[in-house]
Amino acid sequence: VIRMSDLDLNGKRVLIREDLNVPVKNGKVTSDARLRAAIPTIELALSKGAKVMVMSHLGRPEEGVYDAESSLQPVVDYLAQALAAPVRLASDYLAGIDINAGEVVVFENVRFNKGEGKNDDTLAQKLAALCDVFVMDAFGTAHRAQASTYGVAKFAPVACAGPLLVAELDALAAALKNPKRPLVAIVGGSKVSTKLTVLESLSGIVDQLIVGGGIANTFIAANGNNVGKSLFEADLVPEAQRLMAQANARGGNIPVPTDVVVGQAFSETTPATLKPVNAVDDGDMIFDIGPDTTAQLVNILKSAGTIVWNGPVGVFEFEQFAAGTKALAQAIADSDAFSIAGGGDTLAAIDKYNIADKVSYVSTGGGAFLEFLEGKTLPAVAILEQRAKTQ
Ligand code: 3PG
Repeated sequence: VIRMSDLDLNGKRVLIREDLNVPVKNGKVTSDARLRAAIPTIELALSKGAKVMVMSHLGRPEEGVYDAESSLQPVVDYLAQALAAPVRLASDYLAGIDINAGEVVVFENVRFNKGEGKNDDTLAQKLAALCDVFVMDAFGTAHRAQASTYGVAKFAPVACAGPLLVAELDALAAALKNPKRPLVAIVGGSKVSTKLTVLESLSGIVDQLIVGGGIANTFIAANGNNVGKSLFEADLVPEAQRLMAQANARGGNIPVPTDVVVGQAFSETTPATLKPVNAVDDGDMIFDIGPDTTAQLVNILKSAGTIVWNGPVGVFEFEQFAAGTKALAQAIADSDAFSIAGGGDTLAAIDKYNIADKVSYVSTGGGAFLEFLEGKTLPAVAILEQRAKTQ
């Protein structure tokens, strides 16, 4: 792909697609990780003398209608504080917009435009007509082929990748394409069904595939153990068995918990009881891994050359079930391995245990991170590659 950092942007109209889809409460941004990640790109464009336009979606509003709840105004307020340049929100921009070098114009939520979701060509052409250079920097939305991520890249005079997108793709490539081994992945979360393709793809490349949360429960059941009232997917037990066999066949391993922490209800106050994995009762719900399992997994992480982390291994938002996730987070922080982490719950755990500085790369992607792990091509990256051949 062509990189924004290599281009002369002086005096050019530069339209940057960022993923500024952040949580907002009472008109204020409540988590600014994605904004902090986008700012260096905006500053680079400004320093190159560009007329800077930034666009993003926020939330999932009904298309074609304005919805104050999904306005980018709180994001603009944040950027106005964070950037030295003047920043303003533009609602009417599709017909053309006046902009000066040195200022930043943020377009109102692109999902207010009819045709955004289905990647309408007319809308994409209008966006493309606004700029001399289109910069795709929204890694978190690169799995969506929409007018502001894909179509605009098809029609813009020049389409390139921004520094954040490049950094994300470089970090993922370092972890998965030619990793320092052993390569260890942690896949947590509630359901095997939502991560089946990730598990499938990772079990074919990693040395150790650590499963956690509800996902681990299905593997525990697959080993013939009672999981009581725990969240698990009976219909996916054969899949779990197949994945374990597949990993073993190529010398890999999916370690399944040997001890667990159970409660009687999904509640902050339910007492925690430690049990060997073969002693779970019918009324029990598994909410965390036990200390023996934790010690075994920490050892695996200690010897890792590369670590990929997506998803917690327990209900870490409840203190009595947080020990497993906390210990693994600490092990990742202490490790010399190249580590990459992504996904909403994972970022919450990283924040909670304050280890962001100690993870080699924290991705801004949720769904996009997972699709990359699944081995899928991200359409918004594919179109940049295609354009790079002809421009
Ligand atoms: C995300 O938060 O994963 C991205 O911003 C994409 O949002 P979407 O799932 O609504 O397309």
